Amino acid sequence: MSLSKFDSQDTGIPKWQIALSVGGAIIIGAGFYYFYLNRDSEIKKSGKPKSKPPPSSLSEDKSIESDADLSPLGRAQASKNKGNKYFKVGKYEEAIKCYDEAIEICPPDNKTDLSTFYQNRAAAYEQLKNWENVMRDCTAALELNSRYIKALQRRAKACEILKDLEQSLEDLTSVCILESFQNQGTLIHVDRVLKDIGVQRAKEAMATKEIFLPSRYYIKSYFDSFIEDPIFTSLCKEKEGDIDESEQQLEKNATNNGYLKAKQYLQEGKYSEIEECCSNELSNPLSSHVAESLLLRATIDFLKTDYKRAMQDLSKLIDMKDLSLKIKVNALIKRGTIYMHTDNLSSCLQDFRNAREMDPTNSDVYHHLGQIYLLVGNMDGATDNFNLAVKAQYKLSNCNYPEIIAHQKDQNADLTYFLHKFEDVIKSFPKCSECYMLYAQVLCDQEKFEEADKQYAKAIEVDPDNPTNYWKGDLDASKKMIMKALELDDKCELAYENLATIEVQTGNLKRGVELFEKAIYLAKTEMEMAHLYSLHSAAISQLKVVDKLGLSLSTIE
Ligand SMILES: *[C@@H]1O[C@H](CO)[C@@H](O)[C@H](O)[C@H]1NC(C)=O
Ligand SMILES: *[C@@H]1O[C@H](CO)[C@@H](O)[C@H](O)[C@H]1NC(C)=O
Ligand SMILES: *[C@@H]1O[C@H](CO)[C@@H](O)[C@H](O)[C@H]1NC(C)=O
Repeated sequence: MSLSKFDSQDTGIPKWQIALSVGGAIIIGAGFYYFYLNRDSEIKKSGKPKSKPPPSSLSEDKSIESDADLSPLGRAQASKNKGNKYFKVGKYEEAIKCYDEAIEICPPDNKTDLSTFYQNRAAAYEQLKNWENVMRDCTAALELNSRYIKALQRRAKACEILKDLEQSLEDLTSVCILESFQNQGTLIHVDRVLKDIGVQRAKEAMATKEIFLPSRYYIKSYFDSFIEDPIFTSLCKEKEGDIDESEQQLEKNATNNGYLKAKQYLQEGKYSEIEECCSNELSNPLSSHVAESLLLRATIDFLKTDYKRAMQDLSKLIDMKDLSLKIKVNALIKRGTIYMHTDNLSSCLQDFRNAREMDPTNSDVYHHLGQIYLLVGNMDGATDNFNLAVKAQYKLSNCNYPEIIAHQKDQNADLTYFLHKFEDVIKSFPKCSECYMLYAQVLCDQEKFEEADKQYAKAIEVDPDNPTNYWKGDLDASKKMIMKALELDDKCELAYENLATIEVQTGNLKRGVELFEKAIYLAKTEMEMAHLYSLHSAAISQLKVVDKLGLSLSTIE
């Protein structure tokens, strides 16, 4: 699984998004093509190839098999048929010679025949793994007949091998449209190429990605994903008035721009101010908040995907003597996660092992390790760790949806079992909006839209401030809801992604492409980016193909 190897989905991201982007990739990809075509039966009709493609890999013309027919076309066809005989017994070099002859003799006006000869020669070159020639001959065939499915398929395969993924995608998109999305094999192939394009483009984009803080909601949910976060735990104590005297004294005398101020900003959700305050604190040699400041600054750097200093701060922290256990474990989890984001899985697992040894009842360790296993595609590891996290008194408010996701991702999982499990979870965690969202998502996949709608409504009722709750099945209504989500959080890339998907579904491919670009700009991790680039490339490719095959978009636009 190249997509999920070290892909860097964050541990704090709303979990149903993981389910959507990983488990749902093929469904989403195929889904919006499908939807799009359903809306416009014109395309279905005009999308049928005009010239009937040959029924088998090589085309035969039974009618003109006698050499007595001495017309140039007849002779060309005779050569081709000879070539086909060689092909069938595996004599590809000889077959190619016959096709050469056929191509040479064939009158240029007999376009369909000529394109067939090129296509057959491409088939022979394919057997010899001569991919450049496959590509060249398929291109020649397609210039003569742009709707030639076999030539498109063959070129898509050659281009994939030659790493021209964009061309491969374009050809496969053409095939999908010409086949009216009826061929599962083609859909799976498109999905694979889309994933590869996404991974490749995300890798390139990550190298030059601008560094900025993600949305407030995202940051908050990242902090919320730690039950034993040492900084937040002390914030909670203060809220409950459980602050000790000396700290209160310090607070009074706090310079306005040190750690205590940073903590206040954290509490108020003014995340962009935190880094500076922590740095101020750290430049004070008499500071009594070095560890907390390092941890908080590293966390903010991590969220900004600025891994270098985060790594330094965390390593410094982990090496400190007399460090409180909770801070050390928290730092190990975060450093481990950065290791995973920077393709160092063995160091990642080592940090988690150390964390687990030091604090075996800390559910944060299992929860975050479970997410990492989920991302590297190790379902057993993920499930085991999520179960351990639940056992380590997983907090009610966070509920145990990770286990559900692990099941959802397991394609062989029994769906009924899975739905029951959901109902159980919702009964146990009636205030968990993500549970409702996940459940709704599954119901949508099952096309139980009415029931899904009810679950979406409940998610919003439970957590009205969570922007990710504001979309659902009905397109127009969801568009309005997503706009509302963007008012709450204009950096919510998920909102842009969903809006883009709706635009694509309703035929506004160009608008969809723009919105995907917005989402890509905001994406935080390579995996998210890969997912978005896949969708983006799918939309662009569809735009190109519709144009090239001369299909009408007029009824949609
Ligand atoms: C081949 O082209 C010739 C003109 O060059 C035309 O008369 C003939 O009908 C064509 N045959 C086929 C099968 O298209
Ligand atoms: C309060 O802060 C000032 C500097 O801002 C410092 O000079 C003073 O010693 C501090 N007082 C206590 C009690 O920490
Ligand atoms: C992983 O990290 C460790 C510790 O920083 C380092 O020694 C090692 O070279 C890294 N391995 C890879 C493959 O980057």
